[in-house]
Amino acid sequence: MVVTAESLLSVRGVTVRFGGIVALDGVSFDVQRGQVCGLIGPNGAGKTTLFNCLSRLYAYQSGDILFEGQSITQMPTHRIAALGLGRTFQNLAMFKTLPVRDNIMIGAHSRSSSGFIASALRLPRVSAEEKRLGERADQIMEYLGLQSVAHRPAGDLPFGTQKRVEMGRALAADPKLLLLDEPAAGLNHEELHDLGRLITDVRDRLKITVLLVEHHMSLVMSVSDHIVALNFGKKIAEGNPAEIQRHPEVIEAYLGAQAAQASQEPAHV
Ligand SMILES: Nc1ncnc2c1ncn2[C@@H]1O[C@H](COP(=O)(O)OP(=O)(O)O)[C@@H](O)[C@H]1O
Ligand SMILES: [Mg+2]
Repeated sequence: MVVTAESLLSVRGVTVRFGGIVALDGVSFDVQRGQVCGLIGPNGAGKTTLFNCLSRLYAYQSGDILFEGQSITQMPTHRIAALGLGRTFQNLAMFKTLPVRDNIMIGAHSRSSSGFIASALRLPRVSAEEKRLGERADQIMEYLGLQSVAHRPAGDLPFGTQKRVEMGRALAADPKLLLLDEPAAGLNHEELHDLGRLITDVRDRLKITVLLVEHHMSLVMSVSDHIVALNFGKKIAEGNPAEIQRHPEVIEAYLGAQAAQASQEPAHV
């Protein structure tokens, strides 16, 4: 494991147990600033559990997680988003009856400066703040091509569009690290292509570091700078996409079926 001054995120020996199940077993890796880091592994490998530790939804029994060199282990959960950790969920998490624009404004609100009392009393500072959040939501919707559905209830939209709304909610908080949990699941071919371009654009133009959990191998391989592979809660490999693709334990754990299938097709990554 390489720990450098540039590490945005450092996961160190994190262990999570649920009764007799060891969901994560001393997992350590670093995410470098400015990179897309892929996190792969078969179902049940512990990927979502790791995301839940990063969002502090789950407590870990041992280990530490550092964000910009600062431990988040003892930090109250409400401070996590303010630190700059934004995420999407494997199962969509948004307000389905609220319009798209409001859902995205709610994302921006997690970094907003107006206090709860000021918001409740609707002091003048709040309307200025609301205006700012609204403008931020408009920028994000333009970036994601969501303007035409801005006023539609999020839950009425096609699945792929809902996933983009969720990405918008996470981006609206101006994260330094964007955590994406299986963003490709359920997308059609064209949406997949757009998602790949969006992830690299988020890295290159918005300068946001990305930690990407994904089952879709060709997507992970094409957008990731670095990949960490888990199996049964343990890290089995890390490296660049080419190294991961030829790593024997990864092939055995995860790529076996797909590799067999791919050998009958022309190679494409
Ligand atoms: N809240 C929980 N309670 C009990 N077991 C859990 C919980 N969350 C995850 N697990 C277990 O932890 C293991 C890792 O799950 P998960 O992190 O969801 O895997 P992945 O996202 O890689 O598919 C699995 O065995 C799963 O059943
Ligand atoms: Mg999962």
